[in-house]
Amino acid sequence: MVNVEKFIDQAVREIRDAAGDEKVVMALSGGVDSSVCAALGARAIGDRLIPIYVDTGLMRKGETGRVSSLFADTNLRVVDAADEFFEALAGVTDPEEKRKVIGEKFIRVFEREAKRTGATMLLQGTIYPDRIESEGGIKSHHNVGGMPLKIDFKGVIEPLADLYKDEVREVAAALGLPAEIQHRMPFPGPGLAVRVLGEVTREKIEIVREANAIVEECLVEDFRPWQCFAALIGLGTGVKGDVRLHGWIVAVRAVRSRDGMTAEPLYLPYETLSRITTRITSEIPGVSRVVYDVTSKPPATIEYE
Ligand code: XMP
Repeated sequence: MVNVEKFIDQAVREIRDAAGDEKVVMALSGGVDSSVCAALGARAIGDRLIPIYVDTGLMRKGETGRVSSLFADTNLRVVDAADEFFEALAGVTDPEEKRKVIGEKFIRVFEREAKRTGATMLLQGTIYPDRIESEGGIKSHHNVGGMPLKIDFKGVIEPLADLYKDEVREVAAALGLPAEIQHRMPFPGPGLAVRVLGEVTREKIEIVREANAIVEECLVEDFRPWQCFAALIGLGTGVKGDVRLHGWIVAVRAVRSRDGMTAEPLYLPYETLSRITTRITSEIPGVSRVVYDVTSKPPATIEYE
């Protein structure tokens, strides 16, 4: 980015002008995009910005606690909506349908909470690649276009709409956000649901949440991937003790990318892969097999659904 400070000044002015005297809500996920947006918003309008964090039950391990403490000195509202999401997802197996169900549920919960605040404006952390993929109809991102928002917001403010992810990270650094947020890997809007093939259940999400945490612990600091994660891709035969059993197959994925539009796998050392495998199979009951995905994007996507 040419001039980060100039961008920040402009964004703060844009938010202040657009907001006028109104209250503004935004969905805060704890990712770098929404965190930067929250920081810009708070700088622009202080307490009149109300970030809303919806715990969908599909978030990473420890995420809700992390977000709550990091944004404790803002006007943050934390909403526990996990039951609603699991209920809505019961029996849904089609990937696009899952995204739609989650997106719609998210909007409904967000609308309900936003109404309670009396806010009339919406701040969104949409970045450039989100817009391109959504406009191209590649998949339905839940944070952009196409979703029915019932609240009549007077306006939507999208200060990051022309930025790529690496530029957003530069802004995060300039705003003085913690390194943990600056370097945060992207996390999909529909959360861990796109890392479970087929129907989403609490049991599957618990397993994939633990597996994701192990993969992050083993890889993030040493390899700084664009993204690394675990996905639950099916059931297969395994053996524990003398017993042959059906166990979950976990795929591990770690990729390099500039903007998520294309990606290459990381060539990880066998010792690292082996450590991840041992941890996942010994720490998570029910997992009998771990595989490493070495496919580029294209032809594969980064996420599994
Ligand atoms: P795919 O799987 O399409 O993902 O190669 C490209 C990048 O986008 C992230 N991703 C999402 N981000 N809402 C988001 O905000 C979504 O619905 C969504 N789906 C995928 C993915 O993690 C990767 O960084």
